Amino acid sequence: MFRKPQLLVPYLLLVAALAGAALWWQARPRAETPVLGKVVSSGTIQVGGPFTLTGQDGKRVASSDFRGRYMLIYFGYTTCPDVCPTTLAVMADALAKVDPAGKKIVPIFITIDPERDTPKVLAPYVKEFGDNFVGLTGSVAEIAAVEKQYKVYAKKTPLDDKKGLAGGYGMDHSSVIYLMGPDGRIASYWDELVPPAKLEADLRERTK
Ligand code: NI
Repeated sequence: MFRKPQLLVPYLLLVAALAGAALWWQARPRAETPVLGKVVSSGTIQVGGPFTLTGQDGKRVASSDFRGRYMLIYFGYTTCPDVCPTTLAVMADALAKVDPAGKKIVPIFITIDPERDTPKVLAPYVKEFGDNFVGLTGSVAEIAAVEKQYKVYAKKTPLDDKKGLAGGYGMDHSSVIYLMGPDGRIASYWDELVPPAKLEADLRERTK
């Protein structure tokens, strides 16, 4: 190929430059998606994971109890004045249309305020949204761990700045509806602004 040996060196330099460019392209920093962090090359989102918490009846509940069914999970707190009840109502409406018997999809509300949302507080709250709603609470450490798994943001905010948290508090929190598949992996997610008709259509499609 190289009948003119003086061309060999420039040729090798060119090959090396191309290889370097390819390596740089592979290793270049990529922007992360803003909502849930890292999207891996397979197209799945690394969020979720197994948990064991306490249900509204005071019994321990594990995510593995729901294997084979979809989990529609929302994190919030029972004294939330607006976003949580609105979002839970949208979930309830969609489920009433897509899976009225509650055979395929389990709606789950996980509190981000475990100190106040005891099983006794959760029970009547989740019942408002449907008989098959599961309300989950736990120790502060258990809830912190599950928030980390689901990349949930939650922070106490004083209702009365002068008195601080002693004057009562609300929770500043992220608001994401997660659909976990029968294998426990994330199947889809929406923010609280999802139009009810879209949530219904997406749920129908994703849980076929
Ligand atoms: Ni809320």
